[in-house]
Amino acid sequence: MTDAIHHTEITWLHRWTDHLFSFRTTRPPSFRFTPGQFARLGLASDPDGAEPDIWRAYSLVSGPYDEYLEYYSIVVPDGAFTSRLCRLEVGDRVWMDQQNHGFLTLDRFPLEGDLWMLASGTGLAPFMSLLADPLAWESFDRLLLVHSVRESKELAYQDTILSLGDHPIFGEFAHRLQYQPVVTREATEHPRQRLPHLIASGELEDLLDCKLSLERSKVMLCGNPQMLQDTRSALKARGFVSARSSRPGQIATENYW
Ligand SMILES: Cc1cc2nc3c(=O)[nH]c(=O)nc-3n(C[C@H](O)[C@H](O)[C@H](O)COP(=O)(O)OP(=O)(O)OC[C@H]3O[C@@H](n4cnc5c(N)ncnc54)[C@H](O)[C@@H]3O)c2cc1C
Ligand SMILES: NC(=O)c1ccc[n+]([C@@H]2O[C@H](COP(=O)([O-])OP(=O)(O)OC[C@H]3O[C@@H](n4cnc5c(N)ncnc54)[C@H](OP(=O)(O)O)[C@@H]3O)[C@@H](O)[C@H]2O)c1
Repeated sequence: MTDAIHHTEITWLHRWTDHLFSFRTTRPPSFRFTPGQFARLGLASDPDGAEPDIWRAYSLVSGPYDEYLEYYSIVVPDGAFTSRLCRLEVGDRVWMDQQNHGFLTLDRFPLEGDLWMLASGTGLAPFMSLLADPLAWESFDRLLLVHSVRESKELAYQDTILSLGDHPIFGEFAHRLQYQPVVTREATEHPRQRLPHLIASGELEDLLDCKLSLERSKVMLCGNPQMLQDTRSALKARGFVSARSSRPGQIATENYW
């Protein structure tokens, strides 16, 4: 086992539905990350000692200054990792690779204009971490968080998001944040259409009272790879391009599978 691999202990668990849960672990003192990044988590078949035999990528939900690490997880039926992870309890061990990974970070863009954060399912996770960092609040005029889920019971973190206005640090910037749920398989007060449709029709801009603009908008997408592909196509039809190290652009993405 390399020096970068450490075990952490589960300190808190919250089950949102029978297939969605969040958990916190202890934070190795030397672990540093940039909001939007992910860590690799490992599980060992022998919880008391053996090296992990399975690893998966997990976005950090917690902020860079939190003393714990928080994650938000799906339970995939018969999934090799999550069918084991979901049985763990407070006090159980999860391994982590201290190397941080990922490019869904604010350094992809000039820090100005409006930040659009478009998530499907557990793809909300990195945006919660971004919203736990003063940098995002101070840098953008508008923070537009859109969370697409199948059913309203899957709108995890809704209370946390809605209470950011009372936050001691971000509260003064709370007017910059707009949160728009999308619920695709249930009739609710929220839009029912998928994100690419909501973008192509202009409905999302109307709902948020904000224009998608090549000059102002920075768009982050996270979650289902097909959602990313289709949403990117809708944005490309409007002239948006992916941000690369060799070429500036307005789109940054993280595929979950
Ligand atoms: C960069 C990155 C960051 C990730 N961050 C997270 C995270 O924060 N939370 C999280 O739950 N997962 C995250 N994932 C997915 C995660 O790594 C695993 O795929 C997931 O835990 C399922 O593992 P599994 O072994 O049970 O199933 P796998 O064998 O890994 O996946 C089986 C199938 O389940 C579906 N699936 C996998 N992950 C998800 C998901 N998150 N939501 C819906 N369907 C899914 C896909 O159809 C996939 O083909 C991330 C993946 C990547 C690449
Ligand atoms: N959610 C459940 O009730 C449930 C229960 C048990 C297990 N699971 C398993 O969990 C996995 C995924 O569940 P999930 O609901 O978290 O993730 P998901 O299938 O990615 O759905 C999350 C959101 O993304 C939307 N979406 C999917 N493809 C899209 C696309 N191409 N463009 C735009 N939007 C798109 C969905 O809309 P649509 O609704 O239109 O697809 C939904 O609003 C599946 O393997 C499933 O079998 C889910």
